[in-house]
Amino acid sequence: MTKVLVLYYSSYGHIEQMADAVAEGARAGGAEVDIRRVPETAPAAVVAAAGFKADTAHPMIESANALADYDAIIIGAPTRFGRMPSQMAAFLDTAGGLWASGKLNGKVGGAFTSTATQHGGQEMTLFSIITNLLHFGLAVVGLDYGYAGQTGVKEVHGSTPYGASTIADGDGSRQPSEIDLGGARYQGKRIAEMAVKLAA
Ligand SMILES: Cc1cc2nc3c(=O)[nH]c(=O)nc-3n(C[C@H](O)[C@H](O)[C@H](O)COP(=O)(O)O)c2cc1C
Repeated sequence: MTKVLVLYYSSYGHIEQMADAVAEGARAGGAEVDIRRVPETAPAAVVAAAGFKADTAHPMIESANALADYDAIIIGAPTRFGRMPSQMAAFLDTAGGLWASGKLNGKVGGAFTSTATQHGGQEMTLFSIITNLLHFGLAVVGLDYGYAGQTGVKEVHGSTPYGASTIADGDGSRQPSEIDLGGARYQGKRIAEMAVKLAA
């Protein structure tokens, strides 16, 4: 069966909720799905001061070598100053051996994100992840306009053609809306369908 990995980092749970929705979509697209979190790397004092979530809904990824076991890898991370957080970059930086051996070439990939504000760096953050995926040799699938939820301006919502997204607000009080989660499901399904087709 086609295997999809949803790999994420989340400080306050928004990306974790989006990861669950991406996984739901990927299962609907015909794949077997694992959801894994990357390790926290911020100093304990920063984690405590910023109130980062200590409990995680999903197991930690064992090592970068695990990436080779999947047909598709979908990476989710909140923005940090308009780019992916160091926690995710630190994990991806341990995949040099896999990159060198070309073991990730030809897999399918995608990215999803969360920002505090509507213009706080969604697209740049997605592209910081997408750049990494392209270096790994993955074929990137975004959130196509078949997902109608990403159009319209009547309400605040996430969703970009480069990947699913949500908006958390400055105090984290806004939770992923049905439009945001729908985008995550749609992208997960599309990526799984693509991976199934490529495996055939
Ligand atoms: C150090 C730091 C930098 C951040 N930089 C930005 C930023 O550039 N733009 C923005 O909109 N939000 C920024 N945020 C807010 C986070 O992106 C927000 O808390 C996150 O999207 C919530 O997702 P999570 O609950 O999965 O952690 C920053 C947060 C931290 C802790």
